[in-house]
Amino acid sequence: MHQPPSPYRQLAYALDPVLWAQEVLGFEADDWQKVLLRTSERQAILNNSRQSGKSVVCAIKGLHKAIFSPDSLVLLVSPSLRQSKELFGKVTGFLKSLQPAQILEEDNRLSCTLENGSRICSLPGDPKNIRGFSAPAMILEDESAWVSDELFGAIKPMLAVSRGQLILMSTPFGRRGHFFDTWQSGGDAWQRISVPATDCPRISKEFLDQERASMSEWRFRQEYMCEFVETVDQIFSYDVIRAAFDPAVTPLFSSEEIVRMAAGAAA
Ligand SMILES: Nc1ncnc2c1ncn2[C@@H]1O[C@H](COP(=O)(O)OP(=O)(O)O)[C@@H](O)[C@H]1O
Ligand SMILES: [Mg+2]
Repeated sequence: MHQPPSPYRQLAYALDPVLWAQEVLGFEADDWQKVLLRTSERQAILNNSRQSGKSVVCAIKGLHKAIFSPDSLVLLVSPSLRQSKELFGKVTGFLKSLQPAQILEEDNRLSCTLENGSRICSLPGDPKNIRGFSAPAMILEDESAWVSDELFGAIKPMLAVSRGQLILMSTPFGRRGHFFDTWQSGGDAWQRISVPATDCPRISKEFLDQERASMSEWRFRQEYMCEFVETVDQIFSYDVIRAAFDPAVTPLFSSEEIVRMAAGAAA
């Protein structure tokens, strides 16, 4: 017969998601995952290598919030339906391993309500999906660099009211969009965590050497080394664009010329 944890242990689990993940889910977090699981900063941004363990820690952090803060709403945002299903699968996988069972109802394949009144919803990237929700306690955006800026724009006002926690996590994808802007210019309001593949215990040097040999250098730096590089389809470099709007820099082209050239290049 399964023994429920003592009230003291429950309290320890509520206070420390790392301990809870380890003893209840059997998940031994990496050091950076511990930092993310424990952070109570209002805003955190994670710039990580592919396959470093972003999605799994995103699922665990959201689940811990839902379980230990009754009646809270946790939103998981992904760029596509396929990714939101995959992420929700991680959440329900962990939920179903819990004793006693916590799910009250699984409304559909992408959201569920727990016995304590909390809800977890995994949303694909369409901004209209998010507008119907109110007062989230936590929003976790997985693969942020691929989530539209319009969707991100819809998220921010919701949190202004609820003062919930916002966590962005991604591998970089070019020097543009809200993930890059936040990392580069978000200022002190954001806690930043960066984990290159060379710091991930599950990614071997042999694998990385093979990957480096099989792709261009810029792509390798983007996918595995947390670097924001210009994307091939970016007509002007970030620095050229920034210089055009920075009064301290003498511009090479006027902003009107840049717009004209961009229109010509796109035609
Ligand atoms: N701390 C960990 N211990 C063991 N396996 C882990 C840990 N973190 C992640 N993994 C495993 O590594 C793989 C990649 O994790 P995932 O979260 O999908 O990475 P990402 O979203 O960064 O690409 C998965 O199989 C996941 O279960
Ligand atoms: Mg992932």
